[in-house]
Amino acid sequence: MEDLIKIKNLKKNFPVQKGFLDQLFAGKKKSFVHAVDDISFEIKKGEVLGLAGESGSGKSTTGRLLLKLLDPTEGVIEYNGENLAVKSSKEMRIFREKMQVVFQDPNSSLSPRMRVGDAIGHPLKIHTALTMDERKTRVMELMERVGLSPASFLYYKYPHQLSGGQSQRVVLARALVTHPEFVVADEPIAMADVSVRAMILELMKELKEEFNLTYLFVTHDLSTAKYICDRIAIMYLGRIVEIGNTRELFDHPHHPYTKALLAAVPVPDPTQRRTEEIPRGEIPSAIDPPSGCHFHPRCKYARPECSQGRPPLKEVSEGHFSSCILET
Ligand SMILES: Nc1ncnc2c1ncn2[C@@H]1O[C@H](COP(=O)(O)OP(=O)(O)OP(=O)(O)O)[C@@H](O)[C@H]1O
Ligand SMILES: [Mg+2]
Repeated sequence: MEDLIKIKNLKKNFPVQKGFLDQLFAGKKKSFVHAVDDISFEIKKGEVLGLAGESGSGKSTTGRLLLKLLDPTEGVIEYNGENLAVKSSKEMRIFREKMQVVFQDPNSSLSPRMRVGDAIGHPLKIHTALTMDERKTRVMELMERVGLSPASFLYYKYPHQLSGGQSQRVVLARALVTHPEFVVADEPIAMADVSVRAMILELMKELKEEFNLTYLFVTHDLSTAKYICDRIAIMYLGRIVEIGNTRELFDHPHHPYTKALLAAVPVPDPTQRRTEEIPRGEIPSAIDPPSGCHFHPRCKYARPECSQGRPPLKEVSEGHFSSCILET
């Protein structure tokens, strides 16, 4: 399969705003949050790539960079072979309708004063020349498809008149109404009720097949990622520490951080013993990350050399890479 997205050496630094006194005493030295610190991967057409890791690891920043909602500090973002990193906002317009995003909180991404049908149809108004009637027909069909039924009734409702599950369906419908190719789903089910999560996830899977979509699926929950992703990239403090086929990553995790994350996933069988402990301590700051392998202060296998130099991603089996010096 062809690559739809290919990022190379992508970096995003955010300058840290210092207080007046800090500025006075720390001199001119600026500090940065290394939110995304030189990462590379590709997403094939029709593939679901998961991006998992603890809070603050740079998942959302990566998603926003891929959509050019943020400008990268360095690096290449190829979309169908074209480098988005160098495109102006005017040139980005043709790409925008092919890319969409679904955020975790449907309530904050829907305007409370816009009727549901108008909200879903809004991208059509911006990106297409369809008439009002044509837009309405398209919206109604899609509403029925995503389970917002009867559409003729729900079309005129306001967001506060919907259930959480219905709101998330509205956000999905709005993302798909322009028939995009690529969707960044940033924790799309994290806010939903447990009973709703599985349904929305299943719907996203079906819609992916029907609309030939490619997803970047951002989540901190590995059991969700296991269900929907073909491959998973594990991020830690701005870097990818392991990436591989979902099955392979679950069955043969290599990086100590991946093993620790997997240990935190609830196991259905209580007799099954855990072999790994949940990582010690909290995720350090991305402003001044630990030297060498960022994970070494929390790693139970750490050796002195782990604090020296960034460990490269090594291929440990076909298409499966891990960034740990203990790999031989
Ligand atoms: N606009 C910004 N300005 C400054 N710092 C930012 C900005 N956006 C993100 N950051 C910082 O970049 C780092 C990565 O943030 P990001 O939101 O990408 O993490 P995440 O993996 O999505 O976390 P979560 O699971 O909590 O959503 C964090 O340290 C965050 O504070
Ligand atoms: Mg996030």
